Parts: sequence; structure tokens; C-alpha cells
Amino acid sequence: MKKIVIAIDGHASCGKSTFAKRIAQQMGYLYVDSGAMYRAITLALLRRNAIVDGQIDTNILTQVLDNCTVSFRLNADTHLPETLLNGEVVEHEIRTPQVAAHVSQVAALPEVRQLMVRQQQLLGEQKGIVMDGRDIGTAVFPNAELKIFMTAEPRIRAQRRLLEMQAKGETMSLEQVLASVVERDRIDENREHSPLRRANDAVLLDNSNLTVEQQMEWVMRIIAERTAPKHNCC
Ligand code: DC
Repeated sequence: MKKIVIAIDGHASCGKSTFAKRIAQQMGYLYVDSGAMYRAITLALLRRNAIVDGQIDTNILTQVLDNCTVSFRLNADTHLPETLLNGEVVEHEIRTPQVAAHVSQVAALPEVRQLMVRQQQLLGEQKGIVMDGRDIGTAVFPNAELKIFMTAEPRIRAQRRLLEMQAKGETMSLEQVLASVVERDRIDENREHSPLRRANDAVLLDNSNLTVEQQMEWVMRIIAERTAPKHNCC
């Protein structure tokens, strides 16, 4: 079966990474969470106190970009992918509210995007990869064999996010979470560099009323079509 590139983009908190991980597991593909790469750079900047009053120190930014490598590996116990910053596992640290509060600003910087996109393209050179993010089908892999654009109604995404937060012991109201989901959409869709857009050739997946199993059934049928060898007729 031929190996392909699967690019998954879409709104925040609509289950992209759960879906992408499941596809990668089922296909034996590499899974790359491109958002984790932007989060890791944000963490590196915060550790160097490079973000003060919403301003990013450009000298420190240059040093961080010159010296930081983000990589991924499968955790031997959990079998889940984890993110490494210069070899250190930072999977939990990049998911803190502090990183979440600054990552949109960092991800909007053209020099950060340029470097991340280059690293992401290198990871996809051998194909057999599932990558999720905001610009994967439009900027990173414009020739991906399968592009999926995911979305779900904002209130449903907020409810899912709230459940995740409650499981971690964080308290917020549904209205607060909904406001932050809507605000993240606004930032992602309106930023100057690589805004979130559905690629013309992306298939739309609105999972507002779908289980993960139903989404898997749907996507595996499409993958079977896209990976089938093309027969030369008669
Ligand atoms: O998917 P996430 O919440 O982990 O993404 C973190 C941030 O990075 C979010 O502000 C969107 C941004 N991002 C991006 O600009 N491009 C990507 N390919 C992936 C994420």
C-alpha cells in the first residue's frame, strides 16, 4: 500500500489530535502535533523571560530559534507521542495555561513560522505521516494526498474542553471556555501569516454530532481510496 501524507487542519478544541493520533496508530504512520512545536518554542521563550507585558524580546527570540530543536518520540510505557525541547520531555509543561496564554502571539511571528514549517516539511519527506495544525494543508504540505478540515459547533467544542479541564481539576464556567474558544478562532483566522483556512481540496469533517468511532470509519474509507494502487486499464 502506498504511503501518503495526511494533513489535518481545523478549529481549536475540535478533537484534531485525538483523531490524528488514532489514524496514525491504525496506519502505522508517524503522528506530528504541529501545535506542540509552537508551544515548545513559547515555553523556551517564557523560560528565558523573553515575553514581558505582551512584548517579545527579539534578541532572545533569535537565540531561541537558533538553538532550540523540537522533536517527538513515543513514550515506551504509554505508547503515546511526547514532545521534546532540546532533548528534554516537555509534554506536560507545554500544556499549561501560561503557555496557552502566549502561544497564539508566538505562532503569529513570521520567523517562528518559517522555521517550524521547514522542520515540519523535513518530517514529512518520507511520507507515512499524519500532521495536525492550522496551516498543514495550505502551507506545510500543499500537495498532501489527503487533507481534512475539521470543525464543530463552538458550544460543543467548549463543552468538550470544559470536561477536559474539569478532569485536570481546573475550574471555569462554560461561558468562559466558550469565550476563549471563539477568541482563539478569531486569532487563528485573522492573523496576517498563514491564517487558518480550509484548503480548496480539503474534505470537511464537522464532528459536532459524531463519535470518534464514526469519524474513524469515515476516514478509513477515504484513506483506502487514496492509498489504493492506481490500475492501468486494459
Ligand atoms: O493546536 P494547539 O492549540 O496546540 O496550537 C497551539 C497554537 O499554535 C495555537 O495558537 C495555534 C497555533 N498553531 C499554528 O499557528 N499553526 C499550526 N500548524 C499549529 C498550531
